[in-house]
Amino acid sequence: MAHTIAVLDFGSQYTQVIARRIRECEVYSKIYHFATPVEELKADGVTGIILSGGPSSVFAKKAPQPDPKIFKLGVPVLGICYGLQLMGKMLKGKVSRSKAREFGLGALSVIKPGRLFHRLPRKLNVWNSHGDKLTELPPGFDAIGTTDNSPFAVIEDRKRNFYGIQFHPEVFHTERGVDVIRNFLVRVCKAEQDWTTDDYIKQSIKDIRKKVGKSRVILGLSGGVDSSVAAALIHRAIKKQLTCVFVDNGLLRKGERESVERLYGKHFKIDLRVVDASKLFLRRLKGVTDPEQKRKVIGNTFIDVFEKSLKTIGKADFLAQGTLYPDVIESVAIDGNPAALIKSHHNVGGLPDRMKLKLLEPLRELFKDEVRAVGSALGLPNEVVWRQPFPGPGLGVRLLGDITKAKLDVLREADAILMEEMKNSGWYGKVWQSFCVFLPVKSVGVIGDERNYAWVIAIRVVESIDAMTADWTKLPYDLLGRISNRITNEVRDVSRVVLDISSKPPATIEWE
Ligand code: XMP
Repeated sequence: MAHTIAVLDFGSQYTQVIARRIRECEVYSKIYHFATPVEELKADGVTGIILSGGPSSVFAKKAPQPDPKIFKLGVPVLGICYGLQLMGKMLKGKVSRSKAREFGLGALSVIKPGRLFHRLPRKLNVWNSHGDKLTELPPGFDAIGTTDNSPFAVIEDRKRNFYGIQFHPEVFHTERGVDVIRNFLVRVCKAEQDWTTDDYIKQSIKDIRKKVGKSRVILGLSGGVDSSVAAALIHRAIKKQLTCVFVDNGLLRKGERESVERLYGKHFKIDLRVVDASKLFLRRLKGVTDPEQKRKVIGNTFIDVFEKSLKTIGKADFLAQGTLYPDVIESVAIDGNPAALIKSHHNVGGLPDRMKLKLLEPLRELFKDEVRAVGSALGLPNEVVWRQPFPGPGLGVRLLGDITKAKLDVLREADAILMEEMKNSGWYGKVWQSFCVFLPVKSVGVIGDERNYAWVIAIRVVESIDAMTADWTKLPYDLLGRISNRITNEVRDVSRVVLDISSKPPATIEWE
């Protein structure tokens, strides 16, 4: 790669966000271990270095340090937060311990716009999160921006092209943060802005081939965006070395299995093995009504079925997963804080070590919108790329109480009507999720002159940015009326349709 921006990772939760912002600027970057020797950076053609933030104090005994020779490499360096303090300390300025952390939004005053703040306002709201602070400039540096708490919030050594920023330009809350990063990349590092999704795909294909060699890779395809894009990408890289397994757990929506078979088997010509385990799942779920117990049964049965299917497929060395960067953070947060486990999500690290498979996770650095762009570029249809999220346990957690095939069929029919109406009216793509929930209560209705004692279906439609919070969507009454009419008329055994108008919190998006 002719131009590579190196992001040295000092353990910040935002390192991947920095990399994402660099991709937004269409510049190529690579994340490196913080202590990567300068020779390696040089060999990779690094033309700029960003030192990430990190949780350590520069005074800590084992404070992570970069190779000091990075400051002699002759390329621009930008230190962010901990990166700035490191720079300050290593280049002979003074950093002081601070008892109080500066945390949250602050007002930045730009004293000298220079190249970093080129064409940016002189006042910007910026997001801080730091303890230590630079109290004396290293020789050769000037302060070019200040906040109430830091006279040296932004520093510059214009001659050597070294910059330090105390706040986090990469986070969403910092105003024009991405423009500050772009200025560093383009005006200071002179990076080319020519790194596109197609380049990303080419690079991933190279990486996948290098990692996998001649080995076989197995991927559990769910039909969701993440596993679909992972499958298409890996298939492009290694073709027949990839085998996808799709488990029909009997908890799928109407026509789901058939559309997976059509797209991946027929269209992409991926070696797709469909395992029909619906009877086994339903047998094991018989009489299970507790939501967490349902998830456990479904999760464990999935592993059993998947493991068994591997025996018939033959030896593989890699297990591919469509893990995204936000999954990685969420799982870490859950591991570190058991209280955060509200529902047992199991996207990451789902399969036990005893399977002795190495993991292949080509989307691990990407965010959802980037995954969608990659999916589209690989030729996945919009229907897949813009699919709403669907929980791993499927309709199992949307059918309250005891699960039977007959009830599932009722839910499937109702859900298919809702989905069709959402798509036809253009609302499907505007909301986070829209689905039906089967309520285990019977209610009286009337058909002709006959009393009809039948099930109740709830409609759940929510808007959300990240599923952490959500609000119910105010769908037009005529659309709701049409959905309700069709469900009560077309689905036997449903006498009533109700609308869920709860936000999250205190409710959750799913009912179980
Ligand atoms: P809740 O119901 O917790 O849902 O507000 C938040 C998001 O997570 C999805 N969800 C799950 N996904 N396994 C999954 O893979 C699960 O057990 C599970 N439970 C909820 C839900 O659809 C929503 O998008």
